[in-house]
Amino acid sequence: MTDLVFQRCINPDCRATTSVEDTTFRCGICGSLRDVAYDWDRLPLPRSLRDFEAKWSQRTDPLCFSGVWRFRELLPFAPSEMILTIGEGQTILQRADAVAAFVGLKAGQLFLQYEGMNPSGSFKDNGMTAAFSHARMVGARRAACASTGNTSASLAVFCSATNLMKAIIFIGSGKISYGKLAQGLDHGALTVQLAGDFDDAMQRVQQVAKQLGIYLVNSINPFRLEGQKTVMYRVLEALRWEPPDWIVVPGGNLGNVSAFGKAFLELADLGLLKKLPRLAVINAAGANTFYQLYEQFGLRWNEGRPDQTLISRYYGGLDAEGMRASTIASAIEINRPVNLTKALRALDRCGGVVREASDQEILDAKAKVGAGGLGCEPASAASVAGAKKLRQEGIIAADERVVCILTGHQLKDPTATVAYHSGDAKTFEDVLASRGVRRANFANRPIQVSNDLEQIIQAIEVYS
Ligand code: F0G
Repeated sequence: MTDLVFQRCINPDCRATTSVEDTTFRCGICGSLRDVAYDWDRLPLPRSLRDFEAKWSQRTDPLCFSGVWRFRELLPFAPSEMILTIGEGQTILQRADAVAAFVGLKAGQLFLQYEGMNPSGSFKDNGMTAAFSHARMVGARRAACASTGNTSASLAVFCSATNLMKAIIFIGSGKISYGKLAQGLDHGALTVQLAGDFDDAMQRVQQVAKQLGIYLVNSINPFRLEGQKTVMYRVLEALRWEPPDWIVVPGGNLGNVSAFGKAFLELADLGLLKKLPRLAVINAAGANTFYQLYEQFGLRWNEGRPDQTLISRYYGGLDAEGMRASTIASAIEINRPVNLTKALRALDRCGGVVREASDQEILDAKAKVGAGGLGCEPASAASVAGAKKLRQEGIIAADERVVCILTGHQLKDPTATVAYHSGDAKTFEDVLASRGVRRANFANRPIQVSNDLEQIIQAIEVYS
């Protein structure tokens, strides 16, 4: 008899399984990524997604309060007493008509899933509570990640809030925003500033974790993705279990899109969801590996056998030209996404598309999101910029229902926001023009006044 929960290689020619306690996270036989897998037939399942609504009346139980664990029947790998929650996943799906007009959608058709409301200010907490609970199950004392800043902030918060593990975070030198760096430092994480970028840090942290037996919480860890599935459950819940036509998500390491795809495929296979939304992934143009491979070179899941030669040739080309990822959306400044194959699988079943957005498009979209009521960091706004592009191309129709994921909070990265709005020529030049941003098309300029009551009153009358 198989275990109720196990890990399974995603390569259909291998499918090797291993126990839930294994923390190597890549298949020991073929090196592919692994899934957390369940023997659903022997696990208690809801009869319909509506059954989860019963949890709303049990919010005094921390596992029902958590926006991740109130769906625990759909990620049943951890015994309740092992689960560590800090109240993650209390997020909102907000109808955003002003942003819909910018994107080119009819009023009432665009929704923003605001993951900036999480305790550490980004969607990462959804996955971290799951990985962290698994780390506890296997008795880990140290946990590590490479990060563009949000994973590290989330890990640091979980470690400091629970005092169960030491956080070790690898960041590229000068590559993360101050808001995120501040979080890691303030929460006491051992911070390793590597002379390199995220792709270098990701490679090193895997080597270090293996050599020192440190638990790895990057999204290569399939337990983290189990937690991130719940972002989609909450979207469905907010839409009263009616799937939208589109989910649009920024793409970096491609953990989110992989988790979203797994969430939908499982619900469909379990007969809990009739129609699957389409998935759109938006890269920053300066970090567009997935866009290039998927849209330009036609790389596909191909029943689990994606063209590895094409992938190797692409990365070889990047190396030969010394190409490094570069975008104002530092959270997604990634050229070697570890979840590439899982992302291909997600797009395969969910009619996926990939687009890229320039830093100009990202920042203009971000200003519209901010003016529309929800503050996000640049990477998050890639989703809105991408939705606008897909709308212009006619791939998304004006009357389709679209959900853009706002992955991180505005205060994570104020530098880009101030440079965009302030009108200070030097800051604009240093932070934005150097990245090809030409105009702050939707800037909200501060007005300069002398310390004179009459002038102040006059300025306010003119501008308001
Ligand atoms: N948005 C934000 C705000 C992020 O921090 C990230 C990833 C992404 C989008 C991309 O998500 O990797 O699942 O495709 N940040 C990671 C980090 C890499 O280290 O914080 P993905």
